[in-house]
Amino acid sequence: MATAAVSAISLPVVLMVNAEHLRLPSRAVDVEDYQIETAGSASAALERLQRRPVPDLVLMNVAVPGAEGLQTLQWARELHPELKVIMLGSASDARSAALAVRMGALDYLSEPVQQAELQALLQQHLGEVAPAQEAAVDGDPEIINLSDGASFLCASPAMKQIHAQACVIAKFDMPVLMLGQSGTGKEVVSLLIHHLSPRAKYPFLKVNCAAVPADLLESELFGYEAGAFTGATKAKPGKFELCEKGTILLDEVGEMPPALQAKLLHFLQDHRFSRLGGRTTIQADVRILAATNINVEEALAAKTLREDLYYRLSGFTMRIPPLRERKKEIPLLMTHFMKKNAAQFSSPERRFSQTLLQACLSYAWPGNLRQLENFVRRYLVLGDEELALSELRVSQRAPGDMRQAPLAAKDSSGLKFLARSVKKEAEAAAIAHALEQTNWHRQKAATLLKISYKALLYKIKQYELHPPETEQVDAL
Ligand SMILES: Nc1ncnc2c1ncn2[C@@H]1O[C@H](COP(=O)(O)OP(=O)(O)OP(=O)(O)O)[C@@H](O)[C@H]1O
Ligand SMILES: [Mg+2]
Repeated sequence: MATAAVSAISLPVVLMVNAEHLRLPSRAVDVEDYQIETAGSASAALERLQRRPVPDLVLMNVAVPGAEGLQTLQWARELHPELKVIMLGSASDARSAALAVRMGALDYLSEPVQQAELQALLQQHLGEVAPAQEAAVDGDPEIINLSDGASFLCASPAMKQIHAQACVIAKFDMPVLMLGQSGTGKEVVSLLIHHLSPRAKYPFLKVNCAAVPADLLESELFGYEAGAFTGATKAKPGKFELCEKGTILLDEVGEMPPALQAKLLHFLQDHRFSRLGGRTTIQADVRILAATNINVEEALAAKTLREDLYYRLSGFTMRIPPLRERKKEIPLLMTHFMKKNAAQFSSPERRFSQTLLQACLSYAWPGNLRQLENFVRRYLVLGDEELALSELRVSQRAPGDMRQAPLAAKDSSGLKFLARSVKKEAEAAAIAHALEQTNWHRQKAATLLKISYKALLYKIKQYELHPPETEQVDAL
């Protein structure tokens, strides 16, 4: 049964679901700051959640009598989609942690819960009573400085959610697969996970599987012994060995040759491998993150991405939204990129006029944040607003214009990759533009693009295009 605390003052209400063992009032927090209520079962929790006032925060055990797995969390979120929930569970239950955060939990604390950590979390989420969260997000970016001058900025609800997911998943040593179009920030989010994880003081290495020739990739990752192949005069450790205790990002993992994918899968299973030409088995303690901008379903169907590897890598999947789905971040990112690049070039910052800001807000940014950063950098260096505006106008009018695309494409991935990425960017931009023009009337957009309705639906899916206000919900 839920026990409602009686209080005349309107203090934040914390509902503890099967979490009485935390003895919150006496040990964790100052009892005068919160109204504590308890529910010992799923039905008691749901009964309480249907009454007013809705609790400001719920502390919920993963195991709740009367419900399977995370069902109570799911029901609670269905009743109140904005409900703040912090889950408590075992440190070894990475799957529940991953699922809980997917389902919108703010955090996952592993037991035994550190009282200071719990207290800090409660203060963070309840400290300032009833701030209008949605109103604050747009003007209130959070910037986390990472290594090598990189930083992670988030302000939109979708990116704050990515941040929250990274905070939780960082604590669990499981692979994470980052999906998203080119330039959306997959590498930055990988760095963020590393930065937030216990591995932060060890190396973070990136291997671009598309840039390294297929026959070299295996030795790059696993190393080789002397005599393993012609020219291998000395033994050389691979990235997995060099990255001991750290994190490795396998970028463009979908481009890895299938035979090597099988070897990687074995490594993921027991973290043991042999160097090329080696007989001994080596154990490496390294966390694997992977990123790709390919259409995973297509790659699985075409068997260019092994299904077993995909399931192993996607223990937790993060989908980084394209910039056009978080347009309100554009001015914040522009200021951020201006500051960052001005400092790098020891040059004074330039201001953006309203006209330029407006033009940037209505542009589709097919190359996402990388394209935006390049644009800001050019504006900083050249200082020519007319030129900047015309650059946007030209590529808006003719999204297939090749002049824009190479700027947004990768600089280190070879001509084949560049050509493919230019084609994709141009196609995605043309489709996004037609959809914007027709206010997402798919039939009209298909006519405008001179393709069939079915082909358009396929392309929308392929390029993960969404109407502007659509919230992205990841499949579990
Ligand atoms: N959240 C962010 N905050 C600040 N800068 C960002 C953010 N995301 C990306 N960037 C910047 O945008 C650029 C592209 O980011 P990143 O390399 O992580 O993209 P990517 O998704 O890995 O791209 P690709 O698919 O082409 O490899 C980088 O210069 C990075 O610094
Ligand atoms: Mg990348």
